[in-house]
Amino acid sequence: MAVRVLHRRRRPRAGIAVARCAGRSERKRGRRARSGIVPGRRVVSAGGIDFERLAHAGVRRLRAYDPGHDLVALRRRFGAGELVELGSNENPYGPSPRVREAVLAAMGDLHRYPDPLGGDLKRALAATHGVEAARILLGNGSHELLMQFAQVFAAPGADVVASQYGFAVYALAAQAAGADFVAAPAYGREHAMPRGHDLDAIAAAISLTTRLVYLANPNNPTGTWFGADALKPLLARVPDTTLVVVDEAYAEMADAPDYASALPLLAEHPNLIVTRTFSKAYALAGLRIGYAIAHPDLIAVMERVRESFNVNALGLAAAEAALGDVEHLRTTCEANARERAALAAALHERGIVCAPSQTNFLLAEFGADSIALERELVARGAVLRPMAGYGLPDSLRITVGDAAENARLLRILDEVRA
Ligand SMILES: Cc1ncc(COP(=O)(O)O)c(C=O)c1O
Repeated sequence: MAVRVLHRRRRPRAGIAVARCAGRSERKRGRRARSGIVPGRRVVSAGGIDFERLAHAGVRRLRAYDPGHDLVALRRRFGAGELVELGSNENPYGPSPRVREAVLAAMGDLHRYPDPLGGDLKRALAATHGVEAARILLGNGSHELLMQFAQVFAAPGADVVASQYGFAVYALAAQAAGADFVAAPAYGREHAMPRGHDLDAIAAAISLTTRLVYLANPNNPTGTWFGADALKPLLARVPDTTLVVVDEAYAEMADAPDYASALPLLAEHPNLIVTRTFSKAYALAGLRIGYAIAHPDLIAVMERVRESFNVNALGLAAAEAALGDVEHLRTTCEANARERAALAAALHERGIVCAPSQTNFLLAEFGADSIALERELVARGAVLRPMAGYGLPDSLRITVGDAAENARLLRILDEVRA
């Protein structure tokens, strides 16, 4: 059965009423505090304002996205290059050398706003994917776009469906829009795609009030994937009023014969949206460029809420250059696949089970001691991602590093587990 995450109802708080009843001097103090003018102090109190209550219901029940450890602090503690950073699914090989040239050239124009249309990058993406440029929407990372789809198409009274172990941003997007989030049950641990998306269960969770369905293919954090044979029946079943977002953040890395991108299905399904990113295979996480491909009319609606300069100038130049270096993309993805297989085998030798993955990370089961283990690993300079927030407290997500990083991780792991 699908699990509906309902609004957390709270009794109204007294904060605002109290502020209204305050006497004259208190009102004055309150005004000063609220305006931030507190003589002799830099840290300003909330002055009795209950900001939580001022936020709309969707935001009130939200918890901020958990980005993991404070890496800047950890880098300072361990020294540059001493930390094994395998918690954020970053690409250890770095971007194409062409990116550096493009960024340096773009530096001369930093006093200018970026191209608000992102025309050159859109044309390059259109040529790469064989679609019209009017089908492309650029985002400050695909995260921004995933949030905006819910902002535009979901609202209180609507619901948003995703798989139980789908990417965490989907629930966040739904709740920030004030919609209900419905988690469809995922495959079990013993399935060939452990905890992966069960597209039948997702279809069963969709109702006439479902505005959006988010599918990650391959999925973070499970690493699992699905093919067109699973997606086509789902698309045939959903009502036209339900938009299906297929988040393909790791698509360039997927080469399994039973994996398929949803891009070829766009022409037949105007309610289908595919998102991609330059953060993973193209190694441009720091420049924040993502994009969506969908029907031009849908893109036109989305353009109404897009901040005019949401994609920065260096990012636009870098992404275009990265897209042009097909050889760099190929060697990066090959190295990732090689290291992923080697790391999975090394973990397997140590009795640690990993789910199959078509991404640059492995979901590894460490058992009941995974929370304590993760703390010990960080204390020795190896950063992985705990999975308790996903309801998988026995697992850690390990980004596949390069050969040296993986070897160091295994060494630290062996020390900790000895
Ligand atoms: C499945 C998935 N989608 C989207 C994103 C967001 O990527 P970005 O905002 O960097 O494009 C991530 C990032 O880890 C992800 O794992």
